[in-house]
Amino acid sequence: MGKKVTVVGAGFYGSTTALRLAEYDIFDTVVLTDIVEGKPEGIALDMNQSRPVEGFETKVVGVGGGSYEGTENSDIVVITAGLPRKPGMSRMDLIETNAKIVRSVSEQIAKTSPNAVVIVVSNPLDEMTTLTQLATGFPKNRVFGQAGMLDTARFTNFVAEELGVPVGSVKTLTLGSHGDTMVPVPSQCTVDGKPLTDLLPQEKIDELVERTRNGGAEIVALLKTGSAYYAPSAAAARMAKAVAEDSGVVMPVCAWIDGEHGISGVYLGVEAEIGAEGVKRIVETPLTDDERAALHTAAEAVKAKAADVASL
Ligand code: LAC
Repeated sequence: MGKKVTVVGAGFYGSTTALRLAEYDIFDTVVLTDIVEGKPEGIALDMNQSRPVEGFETKVVGVGGGSYEGTENSDIVVITAGLPRKPGMSRMDLIETNAKIVRSVSEQIAKTSPNAVVIVVSNPLDEMTTLTQLATGFPKNRVFGQAGMLDTARFTNFVAEELGVPVGSVKTLTLGSHGDTMVPVPSQCTVDGKPLTDLLPQEKIDELVERTRNGGAEIVALLKTGSAYYAPSAAAARMAKAVAEDSGVVMPVCAWIDGEHGISGVYLGVEAEIGAEGVKRIVETPLTDDERAALHTAAEAVKAKAADVASL
């Protein structure tokens, strides 16, 4: 039988993710759910009508009213449920509201899709990933979060624009949290294989790093309502694809780390090999002393909040 993926939350992030997943044409079914009645059903109908034009066979199923009927035994669940930021808000300002939503979604998933790999994108990302694992009770490798792919993509785009080169020639990396303690890793950044540090002055790199760190907020301020979803959904969909295809591709994700990089017991942005069981292996990317120190600082910041998360 073909694979089934459920995307929880039919906002812009969720619906765009569902469409990308359907267009890959590797799933039998993409289920899109929402608390609102009619919205996911309408979106599914619309997406299915694009199939003859775009040439994909995956069936999109919309499930409204907060029901999980039809999501049963999904291989993968992507949680996008929760509120996005408003201009001026930090991701952390969403923690209480989104914790309630994410906890209840997680409890439902644990009952209806007990073997699923769960990809979390709700904010604040590191904390909501922690909460999802607690609330589902799933093995830690089967729950991970989307942030590093997005932050890295933003950084790559800024570098490519700055140098006027194709995005395909640029390789960047960000680890750490999806927030103030995001950890850019300049030592791993290259353009056509040449170190980024040879191509741009340090101040310019720092400026691009800062723009990356505030990449989400920059878009929220422009949109006025809602947050980014094209690049975020691209990242989340690629992670789900890696799981579906058991590809073992290495990507930066928010994963549980247990000793790697000298850090234990926290969900944090690191590079990992992704496959059918979720996180197959954490990759210990070589880091400079400064980068390693920044990763440790990020781990401490997420750990401090993780303690609150359990009670939310
Ligand atoms: C962003 C949100 C989705 O970074 O966290 O745009």
